Amino acid sequence: MSDARPLLEVNALKKHYPVKGGLLGGETAKVYAVDGVTFSIKRGETLSVVGESGCGKSTVGKTILRLTDPTDGEVFLDGERIDNLSAARLRPMRRRMQVVFQDPFSSLNPRMRVRDILAEPLVNFGLTRSRSEIDDRVAGLMDKVRLPRDAIGRFPHEFSGGQRQRIGIARALAPGADLIICDEAVSALDVSVKAQIVNLLSDLQDELGLALLFISHDLAIVEHLTHRVAVMYLGKIVELADRRTLFSTPHHPYTRALLSAVPVPDPTAKRDRMVLTGDVPSPINPPTGCRFHTRCPFAFDRCRTEEPMLRPIGDREHQSACHLDAVPATH
Ligand SMILES: Nc1ncnc2c1ncn2[C@@H]1O[C@H](COP(=O)(O)OP(=O)(O)OP(=O)(O)O)[C@@H](O)[C@H]1O
Ligand SMILES: [Mg+2]
Repeated sequence: MSDARPLLEVNALKKHYPVKGGLLGGETAKVYAVDGVTFSIKRGETLSVVGESGCGKSTVGKTILRLTDPTDGEVFLDGERIDNLSAARLRPMRRRMQVVFQDPFSSLNPRMRVRDILAEPLVNFGLTRSRSEIDDRVAGLMDKVRLPRDAIGRFPHEFSGGQRQRIGIARALAPGADLIICDEAVSALDVSVKAQIVNLLSDLQDELGLALLFISHDLAIVEHLTHRVAVMYLGKIVELADRRTLFSTPHHPYTRALLSAVPVPDPTAKRDRMVLTGDVPSPINPPTGCRFHTRCPFAFDRCRTEEPMLRPIGDREHQSACHLDAVPATH
């Protein structure tokens, strides 16, 4: 495994959705869904993107996959810029980045048998020639996600939720992807099934050197499987750190508030409680300065006018976007 360059690099990515409004229905506003996001992921690494509903997590995934075109910024896969590729040139890159969504029911064609669901990407990307080769590859994929080979004749509804998600993962692996974007991939599953799918993902990561972009609002799950975490608020990353640092010494007031809401496994362990009040402001008209200032208990004048940049704090790998950094501790 070469660490020389990240598999995925996302640089100042923006996605502003136009929204129609006004009496004439003209384009009057924009949703600043993703507003300048920078991160990278190495082979074999999991980066989790967390944050409240509507902060732009899925939009980050969709723009990387080019399910929607970015407004601005750059995306590189294995060193090749992909955000501006034509559909034809994007195709071979698509093979290398696949997605697993929350609801396999809506992403798996209910009228297709598992065999055909898994054969489809192999055929579409021209990866197999003969029927027997397809059968072998499909059987191999079933093994990889620990589903019985003889289940290939069944339809999605004949499987449990966890099994369906295994099929979704197998389909993502089929074309030989090296980056898998998991968008709330385990969020709808029961706790024990969640754990099984998370374990499967980490086993597959070890086995295949997969890079995972794990989008989730579930911090307890993230803490189990991730290497690094990016915390998003209203279209921006407010904190980025390795797992241990983020969960043991969160820095940004928003991260601290998010973590306060997660049950602590050890009830005697102390974690400073910070309760988030108020709703997330609209991404159509985000607050000036620091976007979190309207909900931040520590906000001072500067936060209302000047946007804090994401910058290294202490350890180079730990980044936070908060003006409090610049204020010397008083006590
Ligand atoms: N196609 C679209 N057109 C206009 N606005 C959109 C579109 N898709 C998403 N948005 C808006 O962009 C913002 C970010 O949405 P996104 O789905 O990325 O959030 P999220 O963090 O994934 O939320 P959740 O946790 O609920 O999945 C939201 O305000 C959403 O309403
Ligand atoms: Mg989402």
